[in-house]
Amino acid sequence: MHHFEYRDNEMFCEDVPILKIAKEVGTPFYIYSHATLTRHFSAFDGAFNEVPHLVCFSAKANSNLAVLNLFATLGGGLDIVSGGELYRGLKAGVLPEKIVYSGVGKRIDEIEYALKSNILMFNIESFQELETVNRCAERLNTRARIALRVNPDVDPKTHPYISTGMKKNKFGINREVAISTYKAAQKLSNIDIVGIDCHVGSQLTETAPFVDALRKVKGLITDLEKLGIHIQYLDLGGGLGITYDEEVPPHPDDYARAIVQELGEIPFTLILEPGRVIVGNAGVLVTKCLYAKKSDKKNFVIVDAAMNDLARPSLYDAYHAIQPVIQRKRPPFVADVVGPICESGDFFARDRKLPKCEPGDLVALMSAGAYGFAMSSNYNSRPRIPEVMVKGDRFHVVRERETYETLIQGESLPSFL
Ligand code: LLP
Repeated sequence: MHHFEYRDNEMFCEDVPILKIAKEVGTPFYIYSHATLTRHFSAFDGAFNEVPHLVCFSAKANSNLAVLNLFATLGGGLDIVSGGELYRGLKAGVLPEKIVYSGVGKRIDEIEYALKSNILMFNIESFQELETVNRCAERLNTRARIALRVNPDVDPKTHPYISTGMKKNKFGINREVAISTYKAAQKLSNIDIVGIDCHVGSQLTETAPFVDALRKVKGLITDLEKLGIHIQYLDLGGGLGITYDEEVPPHPDDYARAIVQELGEIPFTLILEPGRVIVGNAGVLVTKCLYAKKSDKKNFVIVDAAMNDLARPSLYDAYHAIQPVIQRKRPPFVADVVGPICESGDFFARDRKLPKCEPGDLVALMSAGAYGFAMSSNYNSRPRIPEVMVKGDRFHVVRERETYETLIQGESLPSFL
């Protein structure tokens, strides 16, 4: 389905045996399938063909240059939240006129960088930010195109850490004050109002919250028209979920149909900021079993990847399927799959039924293409792991494994020591 399939009991990514990559790059490592990335992007983009639209891939989900470059060549834009993501996007060949900049805490240097790069628009999250962007634009003798991120106050029914569009969240501007903020924006010297933006949350498995949010935003657009404020871009954010376990999220076609139907006749361009739905199931994390150990109560499979490489299980109690790279006829057993980090929270699965693992066996943590490498760290002084892209029968290391030297790069001893 996602180009990670068994042939004669051996897992391949497209036409490359995963074992072959492991032999060459060592473990652990991430692999991304070029065919899956392409198919997911094109399916999502194509689903909105009926309306003028721009798919701005959410860089935070996976910001590898090769991944960003691929989407840029497919005509995609980028949703960024930092100067670093802008830098990556531009390096990867994303056109600045297709970049939208979200986030509650944009710094002045980041705003100036985005203005100088002439990005499409800033999704503004507070009145103070609006004033800051205006001042920066004034100083640079340019104009800033903006949308206000409106908090739609709908419940996405997802994990509380990744729900963003409710009043109790820190994101966006409440609907009640949106109109007055737009009016204030109209008066600012170097601001051009071009859009309206919202984002409901992440890993949504129903279309209803998106449609609810859209309905609320449409109401606001009508009110803005009366004030002579014309919206050119409606940014609906990201958030469409994927199957990790047994979730049944809507297909992009159904998601698009629900949105396009609610949208009606529109004189503006729709912007979407999908992340997970494009890259999540296009990537896996391959890790090696180091030890299998038994305590009084449990079996433990200790692997060479850890929570610093894939934080989602420890952070959100997220489920990632675990599959052997080589299928052997071994009886299943129930075990915790854990990493080498010195924390009990360092686990990938608890009480999971798996085929019995032995030292040296490789397993793949599935659906790891989104918020996997992107959220990895050097905790426990572990060099970050490589990322590999596979296309057909070829593969390329798109990010090298870090070394001990890279670990201490930039550190120095003060003279007073
Ligand atoms: N746009 C905005 C403004 C966002 O805040 C996000 C994600 C996206 C787009 C992309 O959402 P997606 O299509 O990927 O759901 N680390 C968490 C997910 C955090 C999502 C944050 N915002 C995880 O691993 O589940």
